[in-house]
Amino acid sequence: MSRKFSWILLSAFLGFPMFAAYTQTAKPVDAEGRQWWQHAVFYEIYPRSFKDSNKDGVGDLNGIASKLDYLKDLGVDAIWITPCFPSPQVDFGYDVSDYENVDPMYGTLADFDNLAREARKRNIHIILDFVVNHTSDQHKWFLDSKSSRTSEHRDWYIWRDGKGPGQPPNNWTSTFGGSAWKFDPTTNQYYYHYFYPEQPDLNWRNPAVKDAMFDVTRWWYKRGVSGFRLDAVDTLFEDPNLTDNPIRLGVNAYGDAKQVEKYNKKLPEVHEALRGLRKVADEYNAVLIGETWTENIDELNLYYGHGNNELQLPMDFLFTTVNDLSPAKFRKEIAAIDSAAGWPTFVISNHDIVRSYDRYGDGEHNDQIAKLMAGLYLTLRGTPIIYYGEEIGMKTMPPTRKEDVKDPIGRKGWPREKGRDGQRTPMQWDGSENAGFSEATPWLPVPPTAKIHNVAAEAKDPDSVFAFYKQVLKLRHTNKALMDGTYAALNGNDQNVLSYLRVFKDQVVLVALNMSGAQQKVSFDLSKHGFLSAKSLVATGNSSANGKVVTLDPYGVFIGQLSK
Ligand code: GLC
Repeated sequence: MSRKFSWILLSAFLGFPMFAAYTQTAKPVDAEGRQWWQHAVFYEIYPRSFKDSNKDGVGDLNGIASKLDYLKDLGVDAIWITPCFPSPQVDFGYDVSDYENVDPMYGTLADFDNLAREARKRNIHIILDFVVNHTSDQHKWFLDSKSSRTSEHRDWYIWRDGKGPGQPPNNWTSTFGGSAWKFDPTTNQYYYHYFYPEQPDLNWRNPAVKDAMFDVTRWWYKRGVSGFRLDAVDTLFEDPNLTDNPIRLGVNAYGDAKQVEKYNKKLPEVHEALRGLRKVADEYNAVLIGETWTENIDELNLYYGHGNNELQLPMDFLFTTVNDLSPAKFRKEIAAIDSAAGWPTFVISNHDIVRSYDRYGDGEHNDQIAKLMAGLYLTLRGTPIIYYGEEIGMKTMPPTRKEDVKDPIGRKGWPREKGRDGQRTPMQWDGSENAGFSEATPWLPVPPTAKIHNVAAEAKDPDSVFAFYKQVLKLRHTNKALMDGTYAALNGNDQNVLSYLRVFKDQVVLVALNMSGAQQKVSFDLSKHGFLSAKSLVATGNSSANGKVVTLDPYGVFIGQLSK
């Protein structure tokens, strides 16, 4: 019996979702021709920190499975799980030593299949994180690559002679500090690593690498995943001539001279690789999300590809560069992404970025501000990705002592760079000692605010951040204007209130967001749009409309349907 055939039989026998999960992804979900991922709400899970089922203080796949009902109830349609593959965990999973398995710390492949099956029952898609740029130095490809200059996998990584004794091939620095080259005495050459030395860069110019990586995606698509979040895509290619990068003024947190990453980032060849990955994704009707750090929308547009043949959902990190509650700055960013070549993708924080609660909070109205931000990124035209815990107002808790730091960039860059532990703390399920995350001591400490900000407490409180997320998510799943409507900015000169319409045929929703700490009364020229008044759909506190005048609490949100 062929391997493929026996796999199909076995899958059928065990009830694996191998075909069903991806056949449903292709069809447009409405008359407007939208794909499921355009209407879906995504949720990023950092598996170490979501839910521990086996009492070792680290989250796992069975833990995630046990919370699927929670996610469904919240209004989540797809979960992106950050790397859960076998890994020495130098960069907490972003150093993969086997792309086609699950790290024992997170469970087994059977646990993954169970998670996929349970998720599918609830119509929740699974997106995995694909670390495309580099592997772990413990991956069998690299172990073979470093073993000799003539090994089968030698050219799967980037090996070069030094410039001279003790001198790396060029001046490129690792984004995690120090030279991007590590000398390996076995073969007397240097290998290139944009991240840690334990994360050697793959040589994407080698067709065998490309094919092997494409096959990895096929392997998971067949197992039921609906797509990938592609890690660090802009670092896939380097100048083959290894031209030195220009030096800028100043030093970074690691003491390295700053440089313009002209020759080792965002090379045009990246797009060829993405087109290839997309072709494979299309065989399975899968979605590709990108970790796409860009300087402007023109750069972001490149990631959609000509004719949208690269990433369907390149994340717009420009949105996260607005770090104060400035209607003018948000207006500008929204206008920019709204004019992009493809469907917008919004995030307000993730496992690398300080939580929105701390970036926007003023220390006094943080909960109102958390609702305000939800009122924003969940009502814009595009797909939002919620970082776990944002829905309960989780706080960033960076370590205060170097000896407590887990993230190596924090250990290396201390005290200027404290690392990313602060935004990776355990999910706060209840007010118990370990926040209901684990029965053992969690791998990172639980912030004291977990006593108040936790799912159990907030589920009982109709005014909680959690209750507000649920309301808005419910609305966005049913309201055609929020799902499919165009975006139109209103009152462009207002310095306190950010407001806009979402327009779908004759259905129009008004969103008004008070970004100030004072009550605001705003008048809207609705007659211009053929309407007389706004009727509240979801609002915070006493925020309400009277005809065309909307009164907003400090940091208040008003979302209303326009009527004639
Ligand atoms: C991405 C990940 C980050 C990781 C890095 C190296 O930026 O989001 O967490 O450290 O890639 O893989």
